Formats: sequence, structure tokens, C-alpha cells
Amino acid sequence: MKRKSFKSLSMALVVFMTATMVFSATVAAATPSGTRLKDIPANGVLVGTEFPSGFNTMSDAATFLNVAKSEFNMVTAENCMKWDATEPSQNNFTFSEGDKLLNWAQSNNFKVHGHALVWHSQTPHWVQNLNASAMEAAMYNHIDKVMGHYKGKIPYWDVVNEAFEDNGTYRNSFWYRALGKSFIDKAFVRAHAADPNAKLIYNDYNLEYTGNKSNTAYNMLKDLKSKGIPVDGIGFQMHLDIQYKIDYDDFAKNMQRFADLGLEIYITEMDVRVPDRPSQSDLKMQASYYENIIKKCMAQPAVKAIQVWGFTDKYSWVPGTFPGRNDALIFDRNYNPKPSYYAMQAALATGPIVHPILYGDLDGSNSIDALDFALMKQYLLGSITKFPSGAGMVAADVNASGTIDALDFALMKQYLLGSITKFPADK
Ligand code: XIL
Repeated sequence: MKRKSFKSLSMALVVFMTATMVFSATVAAATPSGTRLKDIPANGVLVGTEFPSGFNTMSDAATFLNVAKSEFNMVTAENCMKWDATEPSQNNFTFSEGDKLLNWAQSNNFKVHGHALVWHSQTPHWVQNLNASAMEAAMYNHIDKVMGHYKGKIPYWDVVNEAFEDNGTYRNSFWYRALGKSFIDKAFVRAHAADPNAKLIYNDYNLEYTGNKSNTAYNMLKDLKSKGIPVDGIGFQMHLDIQYKIDYDDFAKNMQRFADLGLEIYITEMDVRVPDRPSQSDLKMQASYYENIIKKCMAQPAVKAIQVWGFTDKYSWVPGTFPGRNDALIFDRNYNPKPSYYAMQAALATGPIVHPILYGDLDGSNSIDALDFALMKQYLLGSITKFPSGAGMVAADVNASGTIDALDFALMKQYLLGSITKFPADK
């Protein structure tokens, strides 16, 4: 009896100590070497992740948020902006979790990528059982209320998610059965009316390479574009697995045809699955997927954002969804960077370097000074017609009115006299 309780006591102690060790390893997670992902001037491409619901109350929230803040500048809600979370019963909207994420993002200068308005999954039964006209009305109301709530605050939305089967047919979803293909057109038109400034995205998986599914998505988007339906971008989810080879040149070719439709490209949910308990060579192989995909993205000017579907293997949908597969992300469970992290860093660095425009800096000297004022004066008096700096004409439009006029001159003067400290054109 005694022995037994001693044994369980020491077991408890071991468990406690292990937990403490894991906890301190988490806290002590080393900062990766090199430049933080968001600080790599990768053609202005945003770098993002998803946050799980309850991100700010998790036991290791401080570590999670510190790493996120250092590495990223864009965030998607993993689940809390989906239909089952925002409108669990008809016309009863709950935004509390989504608002927490938005508030956090706003105070940390993150852009929010809204996900997802019209999807067959994580949508309550009450929607699925409606007749066609009631379902259409529910879809409109959902788009109006959710996008309306976040109007002007969420600049990107996945409007329609996963509308196709892998074989390239339209997914046999309750949306499709009730409304036919038209639910897609209708969703985009309504979303544009709900927030005319938001970028509207069609998002799906297994679209990366050419083939039936990607062809159907391409034809659908081409059709939308030709009809003038407001769609701005394609989202390649990019849920990969090292057991499936990927042809990177084909991926580049595929991106190009979507770009040729005038669409922006978003990598929305990247992860690369490896076997549970991966070997070093599995992790190297995984890193090569991250590196090659992102390099191709850097060579494609239509790519506007690259997001991973979580960043630490501690919080990932993979083990719960793909039995035997795991560790698909760029930090391990203790927030240590993996080879895939450094692969992403290296690939982002291959992008064209674009410096942000410094409004008012007309000679490209990196500061706004008396010389810029003099140049502005000469321009307005007509003695020069352009500015020495390459970005001069844009940089001189300090109020972003589209023309360089007396107001810019006045603002420039105020700036130099110190009565204003930034220009309206500055974000
Ligand atoms: C996943 C989440 O990560 C899980 O937590 C949830 O249980 C199911 O959905 N494509 C998408 C995402 O568009 O919303 C999915 O996210 C992953 C696949």
C-alpha cells in the first residue's frame, strides 16, 4: 500500500517536472537567426498565419503571441468567423471571438483576412435544410451582417470556399443542390455591395497544379470576370504533404493563367504534412516544399500574401484530420524554428526588394527636407516637369489626390514648418 502510494507520488512528481520542463522550454524558445519573415522586403507581400479560437487565453498565449507578432503581419481566424460560429441560429449573430481577433490585429498592425462566408462545411443545419429562395435570402443576410459588421476593417474576404470536387465537377453541396452554380456569382455580387473596398477571394485546395479541378476553377473565374462580377483574387490553400510530389514549374504556370485573368493570388493556408515522428530527412523534404513554392510566388507579381495555417506544430489541424501525418508547420511544438522556417525565410528573400514610398521625398534622399520643398516649388512654377527620384511623381502627391497641385505644396510647407508630422497619403 505504502509503496504504491510512494510510487504514484513519484510518478506525479515526474509528470509535474516534465510539464514544468516543457513549459520552460516553451518560454525560452530561441529567436530564429536572420530576418523576421514579415520584415523581409519580399515585394510587399504580406506574411500571415491563422489564429485558433481562444488564442489569447491559451496557457502559452504569451509565447504564441510574441512569436506571431515578430514573424507575421496578417492573420486569419481559424474557425471563429465561420458561419457556425457567427450565425449559429438564424439571424442571431455572435461576433465576440472574431472581435477579439480583430482588436488584437488592429493593436498589432496586422491585416485581417476574413474566412469564410459561403462554404459547405461548418455551416449549421438550419441553413442546409432551407428551400432555394430561403437559402438564398439566408446567404444574403449572412454576407450583409458579417461583412457589414467588419466593414472597412477586414480588407480581404474568402467569399466562396471549396466549391469544387477534386475531379473538377461542381461540389454536390447543399448550396449547389439548391441554387446551382449561380450561388457563386450571387455571393460575390452581394459581398461587393456589403463592403465595396474589400478584396473578394475564391479559396480552394488542390488548385495548385493544373488539372481538372484547377481548370474548373479557372473557367468559373474567367466566366465571372467576363460577366463583370466583382472577384479580386484566387486563394490557393496549399495544404501539401511530402508523400505527393509537386511540379513547381506547373504551379508557376498555373498561377500565371489566373494572374492573366487579372486576379490577385493569395496563398491562404499553407502547411506541408510529414509522417508523425518525422525523420530529419522528412523535415528537409518538407523545407524544400516551402522553399520551392514560395520562390515561385516571389517570381509572380500577382501574389499578394502568403499565409501558413498556423505556425507552431503545437496547434495544427493536421494530426486531427490526417491520421499518421503531423508537424506540417514552421515552428516545432516548443516554438523552435524548423528547417521549413529557414526555407520560408530564404525563399521570401528572393523576392524583388520594394521600398515603401516616402511621401514628400522628391529627390529620393530618404529624408524630407528643404531640397524637396525647393523641388516642389519649381514643379509648381513649371520650371521642372519631373522629380529626380524614381517614385518622385507618386511621392509628391502627398495627399494622394491623384494630382500634384497647390494643396501638396501647402502640405509640404506645413510639414517643413513642423505644423504637421505626416502626410495624408501615409498609411
Ligand atoms: C479547419 C480548421 O483548421 C479546423 O480547426 C476545423 O476543425 C476544420 O477546418 N480548409 C479551410 C479551413 O478552408 O477552414 C479548414 O480549417 C482547413 C481546410
